[in-house]
Amino acid sequence: MPGPSLLDRRLLIVTGKGGVGKSTISAALASVAARRGKRVLVCELNTQERIAPLLGAPPAGSSVREVRPGLSTVVITPHEAMREYGLMVLKFRTIYDAVFENRVVRYFLQVIPSLAELVMLGKVLHEVRAREGGRPRWDLVILDAPATGHAVQLLRVPSALLDTVPAGPLRSDARWMQDLLVDPEVTALSIVTLPEEMPVTEAIELDAQVRGDLGIPRAALFVNAMPALRFDGAEREALLALQGEPSPVGPAAWAAVLQSRRAEQAERYRARARAALDLPTVVVPLLAVAEWGPPAVEQVAALLGREL
Ligand SMILES: Nc1ncnc2c1ncn2[C@@H]1O[C@H](COP(=O)(O)OP(=O)(O)OP(=O)(O)O)[C@@H](O)[C@H]1O
Ligand SMILES: [Mg+2]
Repeated sequence: MPGPSLLDRRLLIVTGKGGVGKSTISAALASVAARRGKRVLVCELNTQERIAPLLGAPPAGSSVREVRPGLSTVVITPHEAMREYGLMVLKFRTIYDAVFENRVVRYFLQVIPSLAELVMLGKVLHEVRAREGGRPRWDLVILDAPATGHAVQLLRVPSALLDTVPAGPLRSDARWMQDLLVDPEVTALSIVTLPEEMPVTEAIELDAQVRGDLGIPRAALFVNAMPALRFDGAEREALLALQGEPSPVGPAAWAAVLQSRRAEQAERYRARARAALDLPTVVVPLLAVAEWGPPAVEQVAALLGREL
């Protein structure tokens, strides 16, 4: 188990292959942390908003909004982040509006590669180090990061700038951003996977990049949607023998055999991911719900609350 330290970091980055449950795990972690009295912010980047609805709240949009006590969410878009960045640098809205009107912002976002990533990551990290009333504004910022390749691209921006940009404001921004990202007291990256071939392969490749040139501290592996091992070998033999029975027994027995084969396969992929990543591992069961929503997320949160 990751131990108590996972929720004690200041920035948790959650990534993994598309569709594996990154937003679900992010929302559930936020729910657990907020229930423990932490002030939590969950950030999504330039995407169809998912976190607030998963927590049973209406969409928050691009300004930070508290969706339940102690738990806020925000969707960061390049355009809004760029605008805030401009405002921070230029200080006054009137000057900003004069110098940096929409058309210009759109132009810069298009012509400077990775500027969109830079300003979005900058906004997240700005929230991580923001202070209010003599203490950090947030105890915990959770980044529901993009899927694998895009996440690597995003997280590589500060170090890429440090390699290429000469001394100046852009370089000093890249410096503090990179320092935060690689600080084990501050940041921890978690990888989510399904116990299936492609997601596990992608998780292993991603992990190698995180350990390698990204150098971001890793915290945990989440194996999500794990089917239960319900039957042992003898029971499976008995079920196979029932296949020829009339409905519903025969078809039900066959379905049970299929489920048990899938569960065995999942177990092998879980073990493969666990061995390759060598990280504290949290297994989240496959939940049988008709529609994925807040009750399912709260079930996941209850489980994480027991494990973390
Ligand atoms: N533990 C689980 N049991 C059953 N189904 C699950 C579980 N976790 C997630 N799902 C299903 O997977 C879907 C995708 O989950 P989620 O949106 O959290 O993934 P994601 O990695 O954030 O996706 P994306 O890459 O699109 O952002 C959910 O809508 C739900 O249907
Ligand atoms: Mg998502």
